[in-house]
Amino acid sequence: MKKFVAAALSALMLGCTMFGCSNSSSEASSAAAGSADGQSAESEAQASDVSIGVCIYKFDDTFMTSVRNQMQEEADKEGVKLEVVDSQNKQAIQNEQVDTFITKGVSALVVNPVDRTAAESIMSKAQAKNIPIVFINREPEEDVMKSYDKTWYVGAKAEQSGTIEGQLIIDYFKNNKSADRNGDGTIQYVMIQGEPGHQDATLRTKYSIEAIEEAGMKTEKLAADTAYWDKAKATDLMNNIITAQGIDKIEAVLANNDDMALGAIEALKAHGYNKDDKTKFIPVVGVDATSPGLAAIKEGTMFGTAYNNGVDQGIAATKIATAAAQGKSITKDTIGYDVTDEKYVWIPYEKVTQDNYADYMK
Ligand code: GAL
Repeated sequence: MKKFVAAALSALMLGCTMFGCSNSSSEASSAAAGSADGQSAESEAQASDVSIGVCIYKFDDTFMTSVRNQMQEEADKEGVKLEVVDSQNKQAIQNEQVDTFITKGVSALVVNPVDRTAAESIMSKAQAKNIPIVFINREPEEDVMKSYDKTWYVGAKAEQSGTIEGQLIIDYFKNNKSADRNGDGTIQYVMIQGEPGHQDATLRTKYSIEAIEEAGMKTEKLAADTAYWDKAKATDLMNNIITAQGIDKIEAVLANNDDMALGAIEALKAHGYNKDDKTKFIPVVGVDATSPGLAAIKEGTMFGTAYNNGVDQGIAATKIATAAAQGKSITKDTIGYDVTDEKYVWIPYEKVTQDNYADYMK
């Protein structure tokens, strides 16, 4: 028992060190709870009173690194405290991190779930303490989102990124008569998928092929498998696919993100493709427009990508957490982004090609 009290005390003291005791979440949360319309000026906490706890599913993820860097930049700009932790791709670790943030007394949470089906239990913990919670990047089920009025989601419509990938492949085939290497009028493709169960993996896979077929082109799947968003895993997977299928059969590679597209390109390069010889080129497309992805488009090894706007996703998530912690209602007026169904901020994807990649380079 003594041990428990000591641990609880030290956790509280740690909270004081991190976020400052006198400005704890209970003030900010009660500010939110205290006003019926959530907008009473007297009850709003100052930005400097706001402390946001952020869990990122894993730090070692190229796209999520851009989102968390942007969140930090925005928090500094707004003068709110932000603590970001690495959930190391383990839901059990993330659950503990959420508990610790709540014990420390954060005034809002931002969570990029490891497993999106865990969102419900994470949300219940926040709800029990009346703490606003913003989910990012991995979308909770709709009924979970509806069950707590202080839950929001910031992300991008995965369908749209899939459609853009499909359009890129269509562009390539329309402009390159030799792209249909066996001349059978059908695109033989390889699909390199993100993590199973992730909405972006499922929907990018589905909508990219639908876009190609809706444009009147036939497709044939040679192989599809997961490389968990990871470049090295995608190289291994692509090498295996090349060995099993023969590189001559492959006419297009669609990857659910840029890291995996780049991994697949490494394997193609090892087989003499997507290098200097223009006759040996297989179009590879991805999603994100990461810096290495843009560099590959510039050098001509990757055909195109869909820009996943981590800048606006990071800003929107920080702004919602800040405004909600201050007891404000979440509208375009308070956060600067359109809010759909009072809960969702959708940041659009953009098509990136040889023609416009430079606009996305920092
Ligand atoms: C996707 C992104 C991937 C990866 C994943 C993590 O939106 O395109 O590169 O970051 O999120 O959940």
